[in-house]
Amino acid sequence: MAKIGLIFGSDEGNTEAIAYRIQARLGADLVDVLDVADITVLDFDNYDTLILGLSTWDFGQIQSDWEDFWGDVGQVDFTGKTVALFGLGDQFGYGDYFLDAMGMLHDVIVPNGARIVGYWSTDGYDFDASKAQVAGENLFVGLGIDQDQQEDLTAGRLNRWCRQIHAELGLTSPIQDLDD
Ligand SMILES: Cc1cc2nc3c(=O)[nH]c(=O)nc-3n(C[C@H](O)[C@H](O)[C@H](O)COP(=O)(O)O)c2cc1C
Repeated sequence: MAKIGLIFGSDEGNTEAIAYRIQARLGADLVDVLDVADITVLDFDNYDTLILGLSTWDFGQIQSDWEDFWGDVGQVDFTGKTVALFGLGDQFGYGDYFLDAMGMLHDVIVPNGARIVGYWSTDGYDFDASKAQVAGENLFVGLGIDQDQQEDLTAGRLNRWCRQIHAELGLTSPIQDLDD
């Protein structure tokens, strides 16, 4: 079974914790978890399926390790690769910039050939503007997680999104819902 590379960047550990909660649902045999601070572009060669996660900081800025890697990720050829995205943000504290970095990453990798799975409804979130929202649609480009304002919704969102991408990827491997 081909493995999935889950690459995250995290300033204070929230995105990192979500990365491992996704791995726990999809299986440690299937998902390798990698910190973007520790990888090179060559690591992308090992995976045809990727899950990429990052937080947004400082009014719509990219998480710092992803920012350091930004020039490199722009060089990755995603042709033939399928990618699911997840982003962390704070919808009440930063409602004009909610999850912006996830949208910015989407906009870099799609022109480079990535096929995206895991689009996610904006229902249940309260924000004014987001670069992660598909223009004119009620969708984010990936899973939105808000540990600052809606932590109690996170486990259910992770359960539903992991089942969604599992189906969209055509996986037959075991998957489990968790109440973590
Ligand atoms: C100073 C500061 C700036 C932030 N800026 C944004 C922002 O512009 N947009 C957003 O959605 N969230 C913003 N956040 C919320 C973080 O993205 C959120 O706390 C996230 O869980 C951090 O994840 P990490 O620990 O993995 O970096 C900000 C938080 C802080 C403390």
